[in-house]
Amino acid sequence: MRNREVIQIEASVLSADYSRLREQALEAEAAGADGIQVDVMDGRFVPRVNFGPETVRTLRPLLKRVIDVHLMVIEPERHIPEFAAAGADRLIIHEEACPGRLGRVLQSIRGLGVEAGVSINPGTPLSVLEGVWDLADVIQVMTVNLGLGGQPFLYDQVEKIRNLARRLRELGRRTPIVIDGGIDARTAPLVVGAGANILVAGSSIYNRRGSVADNLAALRASISNPKL
Ligand code: DX5
Repeated sequence: MRNREVIQIEASVLSADYSRLREQALEAEAAGADGIQVDVMDGRFVPRVNFGPETVRTLRPLLKRVIDVHLMVIEPERHIPEFAAAGADRLIIHEEACPGRLGRVLQSIRGLGVEAGVSINPGTPLSVLEGVWDLADVIQVMTVNLGLGGQPFLYDQVEKIRNLARRLRELGRRTPIVIDGGIDARTAPLVVGAGANILVAGSSIYNRRGSVADNLAALRASISNPKL
């Protein structure tokens, strides 16, 4: 069982109100988010196109916490320098976008002084990570299919999270496990119990049901008191 006390929550601005992006990012940070995740889509690796380096450059001076950039793009090598220069603290790339080059791309991110993360889709086995354990600062497990916020949580990924946590223990590694997709007060305790350390949440934080602060508080409470 991972220590629940060190669980971090990052607000994914994918579901924020883009007409108030600055305020929405600040609201999440003021409400105790440990970071902001900016989902970047290129219209090729995933169907939609959205945020670019300018979004990170805009948010950087406003925020004190981590700006985590989730690159859902083909040829991530082309985009890494610009996002690093824009002020990203962490760049998470997809193994599926650079098969056979994953280690080299992770090294190129670290070479720019930025934390390097690898994300794997629901259909991608953990075996693709063999050989890059020492090059990844975080490992992100997708618990929805890429490309949209607000999708249903894929419960069959909980076993994958458990297996990843077990493999990291076998290796004597404490690489944080990031979970992205369908994280809310119901699913958060499940993934934390399976070994997750960092939760990325978009639509459970940014929605019309409650304020950012209330939604974040409910999410935080669900992992400190899973009986909620
Ligand atoms: C999918 C995105 C989403 C986003 C979080 O491509 O990566 O997972 O970060 O969205 P929610 O929390 O609404 O599932």
